[in-house]
Amino acid sequence: METLLTQREVPVDEEAERRARFPLGATLVHADLAEAGREGALDRVRESEPITWAPFIGGWLVTGREAAREVLGRNAGLTVEAEENLVRAAAGRMMLTVDGDEQARMRKPFEGPFKGSVVQDFYAQPITDLAEELIDAFIDAGTVELDDAFAAPFAIRMAGYSLGLSLDDVPEMTSIYSAIAGGMDYDGDPEPIRAAERACEQLNEILLGELAKNRLNPGHSLTAMLAKDPQGLSDDEIVAQLRVVMFGAIETIQASVLTTLTLLLQHPDQLDEVRADISLLSDAQEEARRLIPPVSFIERWTLEDKVIAGIEIPAREFVGVSVLATNRDPATFVQPTAFDIHRGNSNKGLSFSFGPHACLGIHMARLQTTIALERMIARLPGIRLVSADAPAGFAFRRPARVTVAWGS
Ligand code: HEM
Repeated sequence: METLLTQREVPVDEEAERRARFPLGATLVHADLAEAGREGALDRVRESEPITWAPFIGGWLVTGREAAREVLGRNAGLTVEAEENLVRAAAGRMMLTVDGDEQARMRKPFEGPFKGSVVQDFYAQPITDLAEELIDAFIDAGTVELDDAFAAPFAIRMAGYSLGLSLDDVPEMTSIYSAIAGGMDYDGDPEPIRAAERACEQLNEILLGELAKNRLNPGHSLTAMLAKDPQGLSDDEIVAQLRVVMFGAIETIQASVLTTLTLLLQHPDQLDEVRADISLLSDAQEEARRLIPPVSFIERWTLEDKVIAGIEIPAREFVGVSVLATNRDPATFVQPTAFDIHRGNSNKGLSFSFGPHACLGIHMARLQTTIALERMIARLPGIRLVSADAPAGFAFRRPARVTVAWGS
């Protein structure tokens, strides 16, 4: 039976002493990380408290990039295997919620299929075909809301395709994934976690059925490969990894596509440059993910007493990394609040994390975002923003809805 770390209760007097030592962190509230337009609060904290005590999360909050790398790096002395881990509560035991050899065992079968060259060879054409099909469906309308018409079905159907799953019911998958994402929020409300657990069970049933189908009728997908050669993973373990691969691939791709396009449309000079040299899309999307990280909060717990960025942190305490804050650290990024596709170091952002849990799907994410943007820019001449919600969200961040128009 696996034993999970349980978070240390900080005694009241020690907590009060921390509030006094970290006065700016003590003023932070959930809305500063979750709501639109409040990033300035994080910038003010980072200046003097790059790692701070944040009472509203009952833990330490990292806002400085160097401190975050100390937390996330290999052998950092921090773990994801904690009772309180919201990703585990919402999405179960799988590669992202275990450490060490167990994580390596669960991640290994997926590493070959997600290499850059393999992803390019296997998926560039299907991604292009899907983007074309979705654009065909709305091109005559002259205007469209892009999340419903493009980003959500693009992300869900591509995740299904790469895994060999027939996830044709896009609204069903959207509601399952919204419920799981809703569980990963530190607002103290237990109901979203219960809803996430129910959604997880519903998803397990769908995925076990898909695994059985792939076993009977093997194709060339990742699931078919694992059905044939499980590489030491049980059926439940395969399903658990499929859950995180899909989860990793849906909300984040939606965010990456919507955010990159919105920022380019809000900066027409830079969009013109991209039109003239489409290879700039690679810098543009990296910069968009830096400024508005699709995954904006990462959880870890100290295994032992630690000193992080000069601050002593006892064992079994919670350390949350605000990727939103670390990606705007002026020590690394000049004029960090500006969208600048030429800044040259956007990829130093921590949007794909860092260390042993760094994103498995990074090449897939880049390829999908590139092709989606390239096809929309090519096929929707004169594309312009009608309206875009400001990006918001605690664990996952993006504009909820983006409406565009094109033509004369
Ligand atoms: C723009 C899109 C994406 C972003 C921003 C993103 C971001 C991240 C981040 C921040 C983590 C690490 C979280 C942590 O350290 O606790 C992660 C892990 C992961 N991502 Fe992604 N991701 C993206 C797309 C994808 C795609 C397309 C896939 C799969 C097809 C994927 C699969 C995974 C998996 C399986 C993990 C867990 C890795 C492990 O724990 O070993 N992601 N991702």
